[in-house]
Amino acid sequence: MDDIPVPTPESDELLIKVYATSVNPVDWKILKGGYQSKFPVALPLTPGWDVSGVVEKAGADVKNFKPGDEVYSRPDPTKNGAFAEYIVVKANIVALKPKKIDHMRAAAIPLAGLTAWQGLFKYGQLQKGQKVLIHAASGGVGTFAVQFAKWKGAYVIGTASDKNIDFVKELGADEVIDYKKERFEDKLKNLDLVFDTMGGDTQKRSIKVLKNGGRLITTVKPESEEEAKAKNIHLEGYTAQSYPTDLAQIAALVDEGKIKPIIADIMPLEKAAEAEKLSKEGHIRGKLVLKVV
Ligand SMILES: NC(=O)c1ccc[n+]([C@@H]2O[C@H](COP(=O)([O-])OP(=O)(O)OC[C@H]3O[C@@H](n4cnc5c(N)ncnc54)[C@H](OP(=O)(O)O)[C@@H]3O)[C@@H](O)[C@H]2O)c1
Repeated sequence: MDDIPVPTPESDELLIKVYATSVNPVDWKILKGGYQSKFPVALPLTPGWDVSGVVEKAGADVKNFKPGDEVYSRPDPTKNGAFAEYIVVKANIVALKPKKIDHMRAAAIPLAGLTAWQGLFKYGQLQKGQKVLIHAASGGVGTFAVQFAKWKGAYVIGTASDKNIDFVKELGADEVIDYKKERFEDKLKNLDLVFDTMGGDTQKRSIKVLKNGGRLITTVKPESEEEAKAKNIHLEGYTAQSYPTDLAQIAALVDEGKIKPIIADIMPLEKAAEAEKLSKEGHIRGKLVLKVV
C-alpha cells in the first residue's frame, strides 16, 4: 500500500472514486510480467481491472456522465487499475452500475461478466435451444456464463468438481459433469458450442463433443487449431472488451433479478495480495471482491 497523487482525468475521461473492485486471474498474469504480447504494460502497475464507484469529475468532452453518477467498468488492463481510492477511465468504456445491488456486488461483474457475455453471444453465437458446454462453470467467468446461457434458453452443461456440482445446478445448469471423476467427452456429443476457460488438454478434448461445424470459443490461448480444422470446428480466442452497451444490458438483467454475481468473499483492499494468492490457486467459487470504501 502506498500514498500516490489522485490522478487527473483527460478531456475524454472520468475520475472515479472507487468503492469496490474485484480480483481476476489477469491481475497476477500481468503482474508477473509474462503477458506483454497481449497487454503491453510498464511495471510496476496498480492492478484491479474491475471497478464500481462514483464519478468524482468528468473531463471537458464527456457528455454522458456527471459527478455523482454511480458507474461500473472494466478499466484498460494496460493502465493503472482500481486497487486504489481513485482511478481514471475513458468515459466510453463505462456504464451506469446496476441500481438494485451495492458497489461490492457490482464490482464482481464487469470483467468476468463481459467475458462470458461476449464469449457466448458475440463469438459463440449461442441461440435458444442450442446445447453448450461451459468449462469451469463454478469460476468467475463460468458462473456468469451458466446464467447467461440459461437466460438465452440454451441447454447448459457445466464442468465442476464434486463440491460445486449442486451449486452449478442451482445456477441453472441442466447437467454438471464432475471433471475430476468423469471425462466429459465420454458423456457428450453433437454440441453446438463449447465455452473453454481452461485451455490445454481440456480444450483439445472439447473438439470431440462438438457437432460438425460447431464452435469452440476460448478465453485462453487457442492451441488445438489442427484438430479443430480436421473436424470442421470453428476455434477462436478473444479478449473481452468493456463495451458500455454490453455493460448496460447486463446491468438491466441484474436489476430484473435474472442474473446475480456470485461472491466468494469480500475482503478489504489491504488484503489484495492475499486475495491474489487465493485466485492463483484456481479454486474460487464465483468472485473475490475487494472493498475500498
Ligand atoms: N480472454 C479474456 O478476455 C479473459 C477474460 C477473463 C478471464 N480470462 C481467463 O479465463 C480463465 C478463467 O477465468 P476465471 O476468472 O473464471 O477463473 P477462476 O474464477 O479463477 O476459475 C476458478 C474455477 O475454475 C474451476 N476449475 C479449475 N480447474 C478446473 C477444471 N480442470 N475443469 C473445470 N473447472 C475447473 C474451479 O473449480 P474447482 O474449485 O471445483 O476446481 C474454480 O471454481 C483464466 O485463465 C483467465 O485468465 C480471459
